[in-house]
Amino acid sequence: MTLPAPPMSLLAELTHRCPLSCPYCSNPLELERKALEMDTAGWRSTLEQAAEMGVLQVHFSGGEPMARPDLVELVALARDLNLYSNLITSGVLMNAANLDALEKAGLDHIQLSFQDVTEEGAERIGGLRGAQGKKLEAAKLIKASGIPMTLNFVVHRENVARIPQMFALARELGAGRVEIAHTQYYGWGLKNRDALLPSREQLEESTRAVEAERAKGGLAIDYVTPDYHADQPKPCMGGWGQRFMNVTPSGRILPCHAAEIIPNVTFPNVRDMPLADIWNHSELFSMFRGTDWMPEPCRSCDRKEIDWGGCRCQALALTGNAANVDPVCSLSPFHERITEAVERAESPELVYRRF
Ligand code: SF4
Ligand code: FES
Repeated sequence: MTLPAPPMSLLAELTHRCPLSCPYCSNPLELERKALEMDTAGWRSTLEQAAEMGVLQVHFSGGEPMARPDLVELVALARDLNLYSNLITSGVLMNAANLDALEKAGLDHIQLSFQDVTEEGAERIGGLRGAQGKKLEAAKLIKASGIPMTLNFVVHRENVARIPQMFALARELGAGRVEIAHTQYYGWGLKNRDALLPSREQLEESTRAVEAERAKGGLAIDYVTPDYHADQPKPCMGGWGQRFMNVTPSGRILPCHAAEIIPNVTFPNVRDMPLADIWNHSELFSMFRGTDWMPEPCRSCDRKEIDWGGCRCQALALTGNAANVDPVCSLSPFHERITEAVERAESPELVYRRF
């Protein structure tokens, strides 16, 4: 039996705890409590197994990963194992001392998230007073430390007009890279889709702003467009079970951060089963890997090994069946669910995420 190629990256969701309460949070609807979190020994074993399998990168994420007191120890272990380490953080718990410890442990990169460029916009989304000032301070500390930094801005109908100011802030703070990511509507984010989905005009304006900034040079830019204005889906996670593994705070191993909505399947846990066995043999990872599972029109489509049929979680959330064609695809029999959502989008009250 041929085994699948090993994953390239592992997302370690060290905790779901987070001081922010963003309405577009992509974590699952049911957050895992602190008492269920894996202990340090569990995370150490997971990283060791990942390196043994050939994983190249570990992304420490959450929730807010800086809420875990063992973060520095785990970063140091990643360095010992030759794993490239990236910290995905809101920055609100960062200070000179803990950043210095992370730098000494060998952290390779930090992705710092901003909710907006204005304090008012940031507090409206993140729900935490004073967060913007803490993030600006964190960015200055990171720049001074020399650790390469990416700023991440999640954009939606309320802040999409401020993309030029986001680039200006990134240049001012000395970021090497900026990610402008349109909100993806999974997990909690789907609850706020009608309030956050930008219009087509707003999307076009945001794309023009990105292109204008790219033309200036000197700043690497990643631009993630919203599925809802597309006719072809993205290759979610680079294909189910092909490049990516997600570890939840309690040690469940998933093909993507939203996969726990898939019904009638066991979610394997690294506390019960070796990581390599989960990747190679579990039902969860095998069920949508490759192309054998695909229905028509994917099965006979020449894009099937480009987008791998799109996103299984989106197919489930919008059609009730994860094995359906992603409704973003114009060839999907459910594509009108996307076009209707775009037409319906308005501005109801935001529903906040609270731990
Ligand atoms: Fe992708 Fe399937 Fe649509 Fe083809 S039919 S573009 S493989 S989702
Ligand atoms: Fe789960 Fe796309 S988020 S497959």
